[in-house]
Amino acid sequence: MNIKELLEYGRNNLIEKKEPYRLSKTLLNYLLKVQDNYLIMNENELVNIDIEKKFKESIKLLNNGIPIQYITKHQEFMKMNFYVDKNVLIPQPDTEILVEEVIKLYKTNTAKFKVLDLCTGSGAIGISIANYLQNSEVTMSDISLEALKIAKKNALNNNIKNKCKFIHSNMFKNIQKKFDIIVSNPPYIRTNIIPKLDKEVQNEPFIALNGGKDGLLFYKIIAEQAHIYLKNKGILALEIGYDPKEKVIELLTKEKKYKDIYSKKDLCGNDRIIVCKKGEDKCHSHQI
Ligand SMILES: C[S@@+](CC[C@H](N)C(=O)[O-])C[C@H]1O[C@@H](n2cnc3c(N)ncnc32)[C@H](O)[C@@H]1O
Repeated sequence: MNIKELLEYGRNNLIEKKEPYRLSKTLLNYLLKVQDNYLIMNENELVNIDIEKKFKESIKLLNNGIPIQYITKHQEFMKMNFYVDKNVLIPQPDTEILVEEVIKLYKTNTAKFKVLDLCTGSGAIGISIANYLQNSEVTMSDISLEALKIAKKNALNNNIKNKCKFIHSNMFKNIQKKFDIIVSNPPYIRTNIIPKLDKEVQNEPFIALNGGKDGLLFYKIIAEQAHIYLKNKGILALEIGYDPKEKVIELLTKEKKYKDIYSKKDLCGNDRIIVCKKGEDKCHSHQI
């Protein structure tokens, strides 16, 4: 088959996919190791039989709910390239809001500062902070050794390995130092919701999704312990799912260890991040 025929094959055989033609192009670009224009300019070119076979097998995987990113082993985040596979959550565009907020808060900081990216997964958050904030030193931790291997690979591929440390840890268990910033996108989906999610999401690692019965398991641990690992006036920045804003703020307020709590929404108008400072003041929360 030629390029044009294969793309048509993809379009016609991808079932229940929103953009079958775009998905087919992404897949064929990856298999042929070319960029978009190549396919358009060379649509009559015959495709090698092995590639054709791989393309058709990948269409089956996509129909079985395997995310395209796990096939192409790639996701862009903060204009950087990240390797991803079935061992890590695929970094989401909404998470960029968390990174952008940390960058905004620290971009004029001239002294060196230490960041902990708790539950780092692919390392997307920590690595982009290390990349965009020159004075940062970033420690990334995760309970999954496979995820940590991927985070290391991504740090190396993005040329910032010398600014990064990696710690295998169940939440704060193996964390010893204090940090200027703790940032985290922990698992936050309620256990009973997971089977109802799209097949693609269900094919992401269960431990990356499962936030326990109420989705708050990890926020409770973070609220209880983050202040121990934060320097005075250190920043805690968390991604949240769209419903638990009030609950997470309540958990933080209850500890009486955080002040200046605020939240921000994503582009769809859903609450997306909560930020606060370590401090014993009475908490006042507001929303931007
Ligand atoms: C929602 S994913 C976030 C990944 C990445 N930070 C991102 O935003 O793309 C949550 C991560 O938490 C890790 N995790 C789950 N339970 C953990 C635990 N008890 N301690 C540390 N990390 C944990 C998972 O392995 C997963 O990589």
